[in-house]
Amino acid sequence: MTPVKRSALRHPAVVGAGAAALVGLLAANAVAFIRGADAPWLLGVVILSDVLVIGAGILVAAREVLVAERRSESSEARLSAIVDSAMDAIITVDAGQRIVLFNRAAEELFRCPRAEAIGAPLERFLPQRFRAAHHDHIERFGRTGVTSRRMGDVTTLWALRADGEEFPIEASISQSGNLSGSPGERFYTVILRDITVRKQHEDALKRSQQELRELSARVLEAREEEKARIARELHDELGQLLTALKMDLGALHEGVPAALHARIEAMNGLLDQTVSATRRIAADLRPMMLDDLGLADAAGWLVDDFAKRSGLSCEIRFQPEGPIADVAKPVAVAVYRAVQESLTNIARHAGARRVWIQFTVEDGALRVEVEDDGRGIALPDLAKARSLGLRGMRERFNYLGGSLDIGSAPRGGTRLRLRVPLQASGPQP
Ligand SMILES: Nc1ncnc2c1ncn2[C@@H]1O[C@H](COP(=O)(O)OP(=O)(O)O)[C@@H](O)[C@H]1O
Ligand SMILES: [Mg+2]
Repeated sequence: MTPVKRSALRHPAVVGAGAAALVGLLAANAVAFIRGADAPWLLGVVILSDVLVIGAGILVAAREVLVAERRSESSEARLSAIVDSAMDAIITVDAGQRIVLFNRAAEELFRCPRAEAIGAPLERFLPQRFRAAHHDHIERFGRTGVTSRRMGDVTTLWALRADGEEFPIEASISQSGNLSGSPGERFYTVILRDITVRKQHEDALKRSQQELRELSARVLEAREEEKARIARELHDELGQLLTALKMDLGALHEGVPAALHARIEAMNGLLDQTVSATRRIAADLRPMMLDDLGLADAAGWLVDDFAKRSGLSCEIRFQPEGPIADVAKPVAVAVYRAVQESLTNIARHAGARRVWIQFTVEDGALRVEVEDDGRGIALPDLAKARSLGLRGMRERFNYLGGSLDIGSAPRGGTRLRLRVPLQASGPQP
């Protein structure tokens, strides 16, 4: 399309020359008027010039109107070409929400020819259940005076093709016309795109993340079961065998010569050590006291045992004090394991001297904080490829609908904070 040139008559030189000619003509008119019938030739020339100038004026005005019209037509054509070549569907509605513009992408998206769409109400392209609400939304948007915004920030928007198929969209809306004037003069333009494929991908991704989460929870569960089985066998089988050995050794003590008594005492000591090692290993694997005594006492035992073995000063507090009521089994196991892993990490990595543990029950959820005064934790530590302790913990609490946060403690060391609903039992929405 050829662009319309600016009219040459607007050039300052031409305007100047025209104004000078006009002034000259006015002067000639005045002279001819004064001289009147005394100079008929002058009158004739002036009248002729007047006719010519007025004629030329009319011609110039007509041309200017034509040029302006062509210019506006051409800019309209340019705009409509842009609108038509847009990848996104563009629909403009008037204040009554009737369609006044429907571009080519909209024709394809809604499977509806433009001729049919123009003049139709916008709600024709919305699923029935959203129509009333949508109408109000647009009117409310009109009253805000905001020029444009994204639609449906939190929820997925749905549209309706002419053949009745619903599809998810992403859309923005803008208003034009006299925004401060009456709403009757406004136009609303909606730019939208079909996000069916994207939504399918997002849904598939969500599904697969969910499946992975469930899988990892199953793996953890299976590990817990396996550990519980080994712990039981250690405790029951080995424990009983060791007790039997101890009894036999006691009986032996009576019958052997005194020279061997010291030997038997030493064996007895070794047996005692073996019994307590077996108990400790079994308790590490599956704290039976978690089943017998509950989370608070089991955690208390864990911390005391850690303090004894590591030599660190450990302080554990419960708010409110006493046992933790109504805690689901998977939550108790996950929290116990988290405290266990945190203490192991402190012993292995922190170089700390003191450890503080705080359990708080509040609003049906349990919060646990484990803090140390060691060297602190850096961001890259959390992303170590081979370190699965903290990552597994996070997965576990996500799965239980809780959260886990690890960072620097106000006192300089590392602080781990977790929160989990007391009654969580599986994947949360
Ligand atoms: N209390 C802590 N103080 C300092 N660094 C820590 C602490 N806990 C964990 N870290 C760091 O975070 C990393 C990841 O921990 P984790 O996931 O438990 O794996 P792992 O203990 O097998 O290395 C550790 O290697 C360590 O560098
Ligand atoms: Mg670890």
